[in-house]
Amino acid sequence: MTTDTGKTREYNLSAEKPRIDGTLKLTGGADYAADRNLPNQTYGYPVTSTITSGKLVSLELDEALAMPGVLDIFHHDNFDQLSRSPNSFADENLTSEPRLPFEDNEIHYQGQYIALVVADTLNHARAAAMKVKANYERSDEFLTDIKALDRGEGELPGEEQPGDASSIGDADSAFESASVKLDHRYSIAQENHSVMEMHASVAQWENDMLTIYESSQGVVFQRNALSKIFGIPPEKVTVISHFIGSGFGSKLFMWPHAIMTAVAARRLGRPVKTVLSRTQEYLATGYRPTSLQRVRLGADDSGKLLSIHHDGCNESSPAGKHDDTVSGATPKMYDCGGNAAVTNRLVTVNKCPPCPMRAPGEASGNFALETAMDELAVKLEMDPLALRKKNFAAADPTSDLPWSSNHLKECWDDAASRFGWDKRNPTPGAMQDGDEIIGYGMATQSWEAMRQHCSARFGFRADGSLLVACGTQDIGTGTYTIVAQTASELTGIPIEMVDVRLGDSQLPSGPLSGGSMATSTVLPAVSAAFDEALSQLKSLATAEGGVFENADPDTIEIQSGKLVQGDRSVEITQLLADNQLGLIDGEASAQPGDEQNQYSFRSFGAVFVEVRWDPGISRLRVARVVSTIDIGRAINPMTARNQVEGGIVMGIGMGMFEQAEFDQNGYPYNNNLADYILPVNADMPKVEVDLLDYPDYRHNAFGARGVGEIGLTGVAAAISNAVYNATGKRIRDMPISIEKLLSA
Ligand code: MOS
Repeated sequence: MTTDTGKTREYNLSAEKPRIDGTLKLTGGADYAADRNLPNQTYGYPVTSTITSGKLVSLELDEALAMPGVLDIFHHDNFDQLSRSPNSFADENLTSEPRLPFEDNEIHYQGQYIALVVADTLNHARAAAMKVKANYERSDEFLTDIKALDRGEGELPGEEQPGDASSIGDADSAFESASVKLDHRYSIAQENHSVMEMHASVAQWENDMLTIYESSQGVVFQRNALSKIFGIPPEKVTVISHFIGSGFGSKLFMWPHAIMTAVAARRLGRPVKTVLSRTQEYLATGYRPTSLQRVRLGADDSGKLLSIHHDGCNESSPAGKHDDTVSGATPKMYDCGGNAAVTNRLVTVNKCPPCPMRAPGEASGNFALETAMDELAVKLEMDPLALRKKNFAAADPTSDLPWSSNHLKECWDDAASRFGWDKRNPTPGAMQDGDEIIGYGMATQSWEAMRQHCSARFGFRADGSLLVACGTQDIGTGTYTIVAQTASELTGIPIEMVDVRLGDSQLPSGPLSGGSMATSTVLPAVSAAFDEALSQLKSLATAEGGVFENADPDTIEIQSGKLVQGDRSVEITQLLADNQLGLIDGEASAQPGDEQNQYSFRSFGAVFVEVRWDPGISRLRVARVVSTIDIGRAINPMTARNQVEGGIVMGIGMGMFEQAEFDQNGYPYNNNLADYILPVNADMPKVEVDLLDYPDYRHNAFGARGVGEIGLTGVAAAISNAVYNATGKRIRDMPISIEKLLSA
């Protein structure tokens, strides 16, 4: 079958299914990294720097070494010689912090590892770690807050990144001549990932083979990086991550704790388990960097955009560069008369390297752009939704490529009508309900649709079950489930009979659980492997003496676990039994193709927020969130909606609560889940998510563009815009804390 998208086959698969691993998780049967206990295991506990910048002069270890159960303490002077990973995305060996543990005695940030104590129990290791004394040469030259460098106008601080600058048309001239102009600065505070499952490594060497159990969003990346670091072939490294209690980007690429744990295990000849404490995690496993932004919009009197300038600046680290490119997606968001210019800068701060955090860059950049759009609407005395509709980009403004599929207009309309946007009074403070002042705000949501190469294995077993394997992971989004339901729908074999194997670097190479691309990347490989296994089944059936001897394989179909040809059929289990086979399997790969040069792939959505401000008790709350998202086809609308809901929770965190704070010594004092404020159940309003259903067959044969991140975008802007509608106060620095609101 050839369709109007030119593909030979399109699947029409979509079904609401509860997570197949739900029971395992609820009953404790899911083996998370820290659950792993190996015979003769020991426990690592890191010792971390208590200064922000300077040099480690010496460690006093005698008392710690004499503590009960202590086996050894690893540090700069006795550590193994290793090599840095080449740190290449293309070669899939990226690390989050390229600097090796204990590489030198420079101290770049609070929480940097300066030693690893290993003992027979966790308590012994931790107690001894507290007795390690470090002598430092402290430097008072450090920076933990990039806002301190900002002059509040003109260019942002930091070093310009030439690779991040791009422009179309002539934004400067268009802005100059625009009759309506706006030029504002915005910021987002540092956010910590605050993953539910702590970072953990359990490392074991058998001869020269390393196995490491890790909470990882990328077992293949970690395998390849460890191979380079230890100078051993990738086949000798196995990374296992069967279940992940979320990662949000902090577990995409390996951190130094895994390396030092592996070294300790090799030196001791025993397995070592290291589980970071929450505080260590807050200090040494990345964060969404603080960003400063400047947005300039030029428009005519009717609200037609004439130009967009977006300058960004984000924190980076001396221990590893991270570029969030917050302005990167901006030129794709609206038709701006063909005139856009974006830049990004980096400022080095004395913190561990930042890293991707759910909707990295775009969630921050979208906040600034979507708030600026609201400000422009106010200036024009125009409805903010009407302003956006007027500037809808019918094609990708940066390339003039058509969108593969774009239903943003329907997202705007669907969410607006479900929300009741037409009841909004644009005058700040005009809507009241008892003691509360009501504000309505909205924003456009967006995230790029990416796809990578992937391999998978698909097997039919003699007992009637299916085996599907891929070296990707399920970060908690439901990858196990959608792979199982896809295998079930392809074969007609019940989902309970599908055995999905993920989270093992020895499986056929799979993608990161990140970038909202696991679904669009993995399913095409699963179907390719299915085709391969099916053709082997057909070969058996059509072989001499086979049930469909000499039949044309193209006339054979698979239905409900049977091969069917005309009015004849055979159970696949029978076919395997007849041939004395326990398993027939196929391995295959899939990758994006030429369509990448023909279309621009991006998902869009719209989010509407109602806030309520009670000035009598200074209480601000989000009362309602309505979002409509176009992600192509949702393979499992139940888990997909759940991703958007989770993104909205984090968006409320960004808009109202989350903010890592540092004291004058550079110490992050809200480095735990009690003091770092996150939205909790009591903060969560009614959230209504609708997913449109327009399969994007140009992206892949399943029509799925992925959903992990888009739900977070737009939320902070919609909150800030709603706060303006309620209070007349424009808060451009996230989060909107009560202090900011009262002092604005
Ligand atoms: Mo996400 S930041 O792609 O893990």
